Amino acid sequence: MLKTEGRNRSLSFTYTGSSTHMGSKILRQPDAEHLIQPFPIKEFKEENEEVDDFALPCLPSPTNPKEAKQIRILEQITSKFHLTDAHLMHIEKRMLDEVNRGLGKATNRTANVKSFVTYVHEIPSGRESGQYLALDLGGTNFRVILVELEAGSRSVKMKACKHEVSQKLMLGPGEDLFDFMTGCLVEFMKDHDLHGRKYHLGFTFSFPTRQRQLDRAELTHWTKGYKNAGVEGQDVVTLLKRSINKRPELDIQVEAILNDTTGCLLACAYKRPECAIGIILGTGTNASYVEDMNHVELYEGPRPRGCKSVVINTEWGAFGNTGSLDIIRTRYDHDMDSNSLNPGKQVYEKLISGMYLGELTRYILVHAIELGILFDGEAQTLLSVPGGFPTKYISEIEADPTRSTFTNIKQVMLELDISVATDFDLQVVRYICECVSTRAAYLAGAGVASLINKVARRRVTVGMDGSLYKFHPHLDRRMRSATRRLVSDCIQFEMVLSEDGSGRGAALAAAVAEKQRKKFID
Ligand code: BGC
Repeated sequence: MLKTEGRNRSLSFTYTGSSTHMGSKILRQPDAEHLIQPFPIKEFKEENEEVDDFALPCLPSPTNPKEAKQIRILEQITSKFHLTDAHLMHIEKRMLDEVNRGLGKATNRTANVKSFVTYVHEIPSGRESGQYLALDLGGTNFRVILVELEAGSRSVKMKACKHEVSQKLMLGPGEDLFDFMTGCLVEFMKDHDLHGRKYHLGFTFSFPTRQRQLDRAELTHWTKGYKNAGVEGQDVVTLLKRSINKRPELDIQVEAILNDTTGCLLACAYKRPECAIGIILGTGTNASYVEDMNHVELYEGPRPRGCKSVVINTEWGAFGNTGSLDIIRTRYDHDMDSNSLNPGKQVYEKLISGMYLGELTRYILVHAIELGILFDGEAQTLLSVPGGFPTKYISEIEADPTRSTFTNIKQVMLELDISVATDFDLQVVRYICECVSTRAAYLAGAGVASLINKVARRRVTVGMDGSLYKFHPHLDRRMRSATRRLVSDCIQFEMVLSEDGSGRGAALAAAVAEKQRKKFID
């Protein structure tokens, strides 16, 4: 088992036994030695299982025989979305198996979840100071951030500039993408009068990369709608440096490359040392966690002196790529997957994350129309177009405070140019949204539970970030209730929003990079 080293702010842990997962709640018994370790943090909000009106999707009530028949059909087409505890226990266990397969030398090659080593061993002591630059690429926006760390303070000051990444850039040559980022960096430095001195930079690159060291990471494959040629298989830091070198006015040292989940974990752990897991539920989804070095068979190069643990970037979005989630996938999941940029890939991500939930909902809505249970069977032009129902609509619709309040949903109908919708139609649309988002929350909750059980500390904080997590009104509590059901009773956990880990985390990683280098032994 792992225990914290008192108030030391490093992510180093002392190994005191086995941390092998033994199953979910009913099977698992963390060992007694682990449980008597003192825990340094006083404030800790334990999660309780919360069951409320919004925990489960709620079918509309029929007011006539026609509606009663329509509801029966609706129930049929959505029945597979309702996950049982048995499903969730299965998923929690399979996820853990997958993470472990990714960690193992003999199993990594065929594992879906690659469990990449990040070479991040520690977080800053809080004594760092100075200005650091961060670049953040991972979704529809790219950001340049200036982070100011103040010794002795746990808060950071940030200035950031956000740029939309166009479809053309996402699909064009890799060189264009890197030159675009460098151009934004040059502009940002000019705007903030930063030229003329050397800056250390952390690069948050939120795609699957196989790292070889803190500043070397090969992109294994693009996700989330990116498909730039010439980048897969390449070291992303080299590509960035090559682009930076084209601009003589820049004096930049790229210190570290990291995933957004690792940034989230670091930024959260900077404030709460008990944080050992970072989760993103945004355009894509993923998780990083703190692993014991003894379990990391694929660590390359010399091991840093005194470091007992390292952050692992699981890339859990690929869970299910070889069929382990087929038991719960619906015809809509399969259809959406076949029409995606990466069929058969990122299966778990496609069940959970913001890039896909709206589209999945659209597939069900269109089918419901075809079956005559929605909008009187009238095809709707905007809904027929791929991408016509963005995920933000789900959040907006479910934010109406009751199921018979139609304020936001009517606004969505207006935007979709749907002029004739009865109250029954609106309830059907909301129900379909609830089916999709509740399943996503439960699946994410099962994934988080597997990492909490794996980390196996008496108390653990999970840092959370991502647009879906932040903006969906009920996802968070649905997720917590699933996680609580699957985590060992002996473990207390809390989930906290850790905003902007991509910026703060990258700067923190850059700040500790030099310190970490000194720890390496030959
Ligand atoms: C990427 C991950 C990333 C996640 C959240 C996934 O598509 O593969 O690297 O952490 O999205 O941004």
